[in-house]
Amino acid sequence: MRVISSAKEMAQASRKIKNRGQTIGLVPTMGALHEGHLALVNAAKKKADVVIVSIFVNPLQFGPTEDIKKYPRTLREDKKRLKDFDPIIIFAPKEKDLTPQDISTTIDVEDLSKRLCGKSRPGHFRGVAVMVSKLFNIVQPDFAFLGEKDYQQQLIVKKLARDLNYNIIIETIPTVREYDGLAFSSRNKHLSDRERKAASILYKSLVRASEAIQSGEKDGRRIHYLISQHIGREPIAKIDYVGVCNPETLEEIKNIKGKALLAAAVHIGHTRLIDNMVVHA
Ligand code: PAF
Repeated sequence: MRVISSAKEMAQASRKIKNRGQTIGLVPTMGALHEGHLALVNAAKKKADVVIVSIFVNPLQFGPTEDIKKYPRTLREDKKRLKDFDPIIIFAPKEKDLTPQDISTTIDVEDLSKRLCGKSRPGHFRGVAVMVSKLFNIVQPDFAFLGEKDYQQQLIVKKLARDLNYNIIIETIPTVREYDGLAFSSRNKHLSDRERKAASILYKSLVRASEAIQSGEKDGRRIHYLISQHIGREPIAKIDYVGVCNPETLEEIKNIKGKALLAAAVHIGHTRLIDNMVVHA
């Protein structure tokens, strides 16, 4: 397993791989790897000749009130988790290498970035877009693998790749869930036992709404209400947002026809969790 910690060295390594005629699959992460990330690595292994997992806690995507210091940093365990996938390259750059103090360029994927998570995390997707662009420029991948759990993020990255003519195929991999449906997330580590039990309400509310749609409910507002009401049954869950949206534009839909994205974010104690489901009416 090769661990590269400088952007320059990473770019050189990528050039060598390309010159050998091999394809590169990038799995961009912020570390604290879990089953969801491993599913991305698995998919990357199937598709590309060489897999590069980037591990970088990106300060640009954290707001001033969000505690970046609390974000788990577990490089040693992450390396262990990736051992089974060897040969593999880990790109774990230093903060000053990717985000020097004087960085001033931003990328706004307009419209999509303003909806859902964009409302409660202003600037978040700008930080994601800049970081993903940097990783694309350094690593020069043929494929990039993102999780469907971060639905809005993968949509934004696909749009960014199209708008900026990146010659990269973005693959979205289905959400991996724990025994009770809770989506794997690095943030689950922060939940106490009581909070962990409560957290499954998020997934359950989406399942409940999906069942209602399958049984004929097509009114977006009623589905919205149903999700909110279901989450409201859990006293320690505080809703950030609920969305019943067009899966391409993320605009709220009144009448559900064809596909709909059900999405929600909740605070369980100090931890903010997101989840989503695409349903076919
Ligand atoms: O999903 C993440 O872990 C991050 O948002 C990403 C894509 C690695 C960009 O920093």
